[in-house]
Amino acid sequence: MRKIILTGDRPTGRLHIGHYVGSLRQRVELQNSGLYDMIFIMIADAQALTDNIDNPEKVRQNIIEVALDYLACGLDSTKSTLFVQSQISELFELSFYYMNLVTVSRLQRNPTIKMEIKMRNFGKNIPVGFFTYPISQAADITAFKATTVPVGEDQLPMIELTKEIVRKFNSLYGKVLVEPEALLPDNKACQRLPGIDGKSKMSKSLNNCIYLSDTADEVKKKVMNMYTDPNHLRVEDPGNVEGNPVFTYLDAFCKNEHFSRYFPEYNNLDELKEHYTKGGLGDVKVKKFLNAILQEELEPIRKRRAEFAKDIPEVYNILKKGNYMAREVAANTLAEVKSAMKINYF
Ligand code: TRP
Repeated sequence: MRKIILTGDRPTGRLHIGHYVGSLRQRVELQNSGLYDMIFIMIADAQALTDNIDNPEKVRQNIIEVALDYLACGLDSTKSTLFVQSQISELFELSFYYMNLVTVSRLQRNPTIKMEIKMRNFGKNIPVGFFTYPISQAADITAFKATTVPVGEDQLPMIELTKEIVRKFNSLYGKVLVEPEALLPDNKACQRLPGIDGKSKMSKSLNNCIYLSDTADEVKKKVMNMYTDPNHLRVEDPGNVEGNPVFTYLDAFCKNEHFSRYFPEYNNLDELKEHYTKGGLGDVKVKKFLNAILQEELEPIRKRRAEFAKDIPEVYNILKKGNYMAREVAANTLAEVKSAMKINYF
């Protein structure tokens, strides 16, 4: 069977280092591994509109920001198809048929949706489009017959629902659709990177992000102001590495080679954590180390972003070509779906 990747992001803001360790970095590795027959990376603007219907301008502007972030990270339009969800009308046709395979109570049990409904204070006024976006996400995945969906852990309920839809569809109408597997980053710290304030998740609305497009100065300032262990007041005090975002970021970014480059007093992260836990290691030193690592990782991304940003029409061209390719694949699947459902009258 062919190995196909589909994944994507909502264009509601620039992408941050949580997106990077949670998915982007891995996508680039998968792309460059040569193990996949096709890779589709989608800017999910239609999904973004399900809770931004009053702010289309925001979604519009962030399409280009997200495309720049993708290219900056090393997604390469000659190896991966980058495209815009709303331009593939086949996806919405598929969604409409899939809606009959899912119950309202099934959607109500989706923990990600539940949490999002709470965070957005929808109360009783949940837009139907928002409520049903997991079904549209199943259409995104199955339209490309994706076998692998690299995502963060908050997306697992969507992949689960997609599998259920695929099983139901195939058992009713014959084997047309492919069951996807989620692919999470193997490192726990990468699955849910906390914000610089130590709050549960890095998120634009909490204003606690380090963006891929932040300048070197901005990154440094944010790192030096990061929340750490509030009981670690003096250098001599024992410190806590659990729930300390500085150490979580180190878990996500630090490699042993960084020590010889920037912190030769230690051989590895375990030694550093041990010293911090025991006492006698100040936060400033650890933050300076983290800053050095982040700068090393983010500098090439920032440079590539600036290069691509010099020719925005070319970035739109890349997306346009991607739309064309994506549309062809989705149209084939839709034709198969419709004929399996006997909607091929003429
Ligand atoms: N829900 C994803 C997000 O919040 C975006 C998305 C839409 C997606 N369709 C998808 C991700 C299909 C993976 C597969 O960013």
